[in-house]
Order: sequence, then C-alpha cells, then structure tokens
Amino acid sequence: MKHRNILLLGGSGFVGRHLAIELAQRGYQVTLPCRRPHRLKELKVLTGITLLEANILQQETLNDLCTGHDAVINLVGILNESTKARFRKIHVDFVKSIVAACQTHKIKRLLHVSALGANQASGSSLYLRSKGEGENLIHTFGQKDLQVTSFQPSVIFGADDSFINRFAGILKLCKGFFPLACPNSRFSPVYVGDVVSFMADSIEQPHSHGQRYPLCGPETYTLKQILQLINQAQESSCHILGLPDSLSRLQAIILQMLPGKLFTLDNYRSLQTPSTCDGHGTSCHTSLSHFIRGLSTQYNKKTDYDRYRQQLKR
Ligand SMILES: NC(=O)c1ccc[n+]([C@@H]2O[C@H](COP(=O)([O-])OP(=O)(O)OC[C@H]3O[C@@H](n4cnc5c(N)ncnc54)[C@H](OP(=O)(O)O)[C@@H]3O)[C@@H](O)[C@H]2O)c1
Repeated sequence: MKHRNILLLGGSGFVGRHLAIELAQRGYQVTLPCRRPHRLKELKVLTGITLLEANILQQETLNDLCTGHDAVINLVGILNESTKARFRKIHVDFVKSIVAACQTHKIKRLLHVSALGANQASGSSLYLRSKGEGENLIHTFGQKDLQVTSFQPSVIFGADDSFINRFAGILKLCKGFFPLACPNSRFSPVYVGDVVSFMADSIEQPHSHGQRYPLCGPETYTLKQILQLINQAQESSCHILGLPDSLSRLQAIILQMLPGKLFTLDNYRSLQTPSTCDGHGTSCHTSLSHFIRGLSTQYNKKTDYDRYRQQLKR
C-alpha cells in the first residue's frame, strides 16, 4: 500500500462517512478533520480513523493537516450558497488551497469529487460551473506535480442519504397532491457503497491518474419516477403532480426566499442538465429500485421502515 496515510476532507458528510469506513476497513489510516467531530459517533469507535476539529478552509490549518499524509481526498461541496459559503469559495478557492498544501508537503496523490454535468464553461447553474472550474483546476495542476483522479457522480443514494430521505419525509406528510418541480429531469442514481468502493480502488491504480470518471447507476429515471418508487415503498397515497417549466421556476423563486432553502433557482438550473452517463460513464451495479424495494420488503410495516431510517441517521 503506497498511500497509507490519507487526509479526508469533507469526511463528515454523507459520502465521506461511508468512504472513511471503507478506507479504514482496507487498512488505511484516515485523518478526518471537520467542524463538528462530536456528531460522528459511528466513526469514533473505529480504529484507523482519527477525528479532529479544524477549520479546513484556513490555509495554515490545511497545511498543518497535510503533514505526514501520502494522499488527500476532497469531498467538500455545497448545494446552496449562504452568506458565508459561496460556491466560488468552496468549489474553487478551497481547491486551490488544497493543491497549494499538497505542493508544500510534496503530497503526490489527490482524489476529488465533482459532479456529473459539471462544466466550467457551459454548466447550466452556478453549482455546475463552479464544480467544473474546481475540477479543471485540479487536473491542470495534476499534469505537473500531482497524480489526480476526479469522480463525477450522478445523484448518490444510500440508507442515510439526504435525497431519497428528504423526499420520503415530504411524501409521508403529504395527504393530497405534491407539486413537483422539474418532474422530467433525468438521473442515473448511483449507490454510495459503489461510489466509495470505486474511489478506494482508484487510490493505488496508476491508470486512474489524470482520469475523470462519470459514475452512474444501472438505471435512468425521471425525478417523478423516483418519487413514485418512494411512494410505493412507503405505501403513500400522495399524488405527485408534475409542474410545467414556468411553475417549476416560480416554485424555486418562492422557496429560495424561505428559511432552509428547500429548492433554489440555482437548483432549478442544475436540473436542466440530465444527470446521466448515456453509455459513457462507469456503470455501478446497485439498482435504486431494488434498494428501495429491499428496504420496504424487509421493513414492510411503515412504522418499522421509518424507525429503521431514523436509526441509520443517528
Ligand atoms: N450526494 C450526492 O448525491 C452528490 C452527487 C454529486 C456530487 N456530489 C458531491 O460529492 C461530495 C460529497 O457529497 P455529500 O453528499 O457527502 O455532501 P454532504 O453530505 O453535504 O457533505 C459535504 C461535506 O463538505 C463539508 N463542508 C461543506 N461546507 C463546508 C465549509 N464551509 N467548511 C468546512 N466543511 C464544509 C461538510 O462539512 P460539515 O459536515 O461540517 O457540514 C461535509 O463534510 C460533494 O462535493 C458533492 O458536491 C454529491
């Protein structure tokens, strides 16, 4: 194992927690700095994972964290901007800081998670353009000093994700109609276990250097079809009403003004780009429909299924 000591940035998030466990199980030593380590109870008990409280956005802190590591993995990302966290700061400036810290500490291996459809020039949203810029930046530097691999997943699902679970929560409460924006947006949802396994395999693979891997699941769905799958699993009687484009946009304008920003204009713009590989990406094998059906068969009573999801979130 050439890259034994790994600095995992963004390891406190959904994908990061799964990746930390996968890496620890494969014998890597993982350092996971984050803002709120006390929230990661499930990782605390594992040998091979060191949790630290740190502000990784500070260059000095990041430099210190890089000491003694052979590889860096970056999963830091945001879906919505806030006054403190702008897309440029998180997806571009932070990536520059990582590259600088790797150069200072002569770290030669860098893995980076971008997003399917990310494109600096033609991305349909600020999210996708900033993700594309960060990815290009990392690969430009990668040609010189760093062995870089980046990953472009479609939407990622798992028992503790925020995509399926968020809609499951909303549909459970819905008694009549649910007005769904962008119902025809297309996705090839990919399972978190497949994503982290593919990433962990790549660490030691020389043929992955300089590569950008689109990651998709085996099936393509519209957003409305995904919600229908969730509805079936939950035995919900909520009727999903797909909104036309003008009302989808209006919904985004209204919801982005409310606390929590459930849906923003930038999210709406991201949904204009299909999140599918269309035969060009790495197809991971786990099927969303089997996954959802599996859960509902195992926990066939609605209350059991809800309890199961709550347990996974703890
Ligand atoms: N999940 C998907 O469906 C999906 C699809 C395509 C691409 N991606 C990309 O994959 C990566 C991981 O996604 P995820 O679902 O695991 O996201 P997530 O659960 O939201 O985790 C994001 C991570 O970034 C960290 N982070 C965000 N803002 C930060 C800030 N200002 N300072 C320090 N840390 C900050 C979070 O730290 P805290 O825990 O402290 O907030 C967390 O560790 C992201 O880059 C995302 O864009 C995800």
